[in-house]
Formats: sequence, C-alpha cells, structure tokens
Amino acid sequence: MNLDRRTALTGALAATGTLTLAACAQEPEPAATTPPSATVETSEPMAGEVVSNEQLLGTVDEIMIGSGKKFEISGSLTILVTRPTADVFRAFNATCTHAGCIVTGVKDDQIACGCHGARFNPESGEPEAGPAKSALGKILVEVRGADLYALI
Ligand code: FES
Repeated sequence: MNLDRRTALTGALAATGTLTLAACAQEPEPAATTPPSATVETSEPMAGEVVSNEQLLGTVDEIMIGSGKKFEISGSLTILVTRPTADVFRAFNATCTHAGCIVTGVKDDQIACGCHGARFNPESGEPEAGPAKSALGKILVEVRGADLYALI
C-alpha cells in the first residue's frame, strides 16, 4: 500500500466513523403524537380518588320501622339496611366483625349475629354485646323518593 492509497483509505474510514458518530449523536426523531385531548378516560382511580357505585337496593317500604333487611350485592358483600326510626336509614356490611358470619338481622332493637351471639347497635353499628369488638362496616345509603340506594 503506498502512502497516497493509505492516506485515502484512512481518510475514508475516518469520514465513515465521523458520519456514524454523527448519526448516533443525533437526537431521536420525535414520535408521532396525537393532539392533546380535552378529556382523559381512565378505568383506574387516581390516588386519593373516592370511587363509588350506586346500587339500587329496593324501596323504603320494604324495611319496617325498627327492623332491617339484608341485600346480597355480590358473593362477597351483603348489606344490612336498618330503619331505627321512620326517617332514618342506616346501612352496614352484614359481615360480622367477630368471625365473619352474615348477621341475622334486627332483633329486639339490635343487629344480631346468630353464630356466637354478637349484638350491634342498629343506628351506629357499634358492638353492644357478645364477642365482637369492632363495629360493622358502614355503608352510605340514600333515600331518593321511595327508593334506597347504597353508595358502595
Ligand atoms: S361471627 Fe358473629 S358473633 Fe361470631
């Protein structure tokens, strides 16, 4: 290889390397984007967001004053709605906080669990007798006209 040929070859390789490096150093082309949308639809709740589902339970006439009625919402959720007075409705997760039985209903002005005898207040869900030490889980309930809705 003579000097001119070597110089030419080295120069060509150097130029190729420079082009390769230049190509690698270029900023990537921005990906094609769609214009921003005014609304964002998501099925996942954002952190701190409270999500509720409205569930029509029935009518107010189904629950006698001083009693309660259970509504099975799903295999894992049964709701007990109580009516301590004519205009007061309360709803609770019917799963007893003692050992997980579904409470029986309202008996002698208390929510009763037939498994081990726990008794709860029908307005607050607080335990009043028996082995349960914590209150039944509260569920928001709304009266809309003649209908009862649970906000789950
Ligand atoms: S599960 Fe209700 S009293 Fe034990």
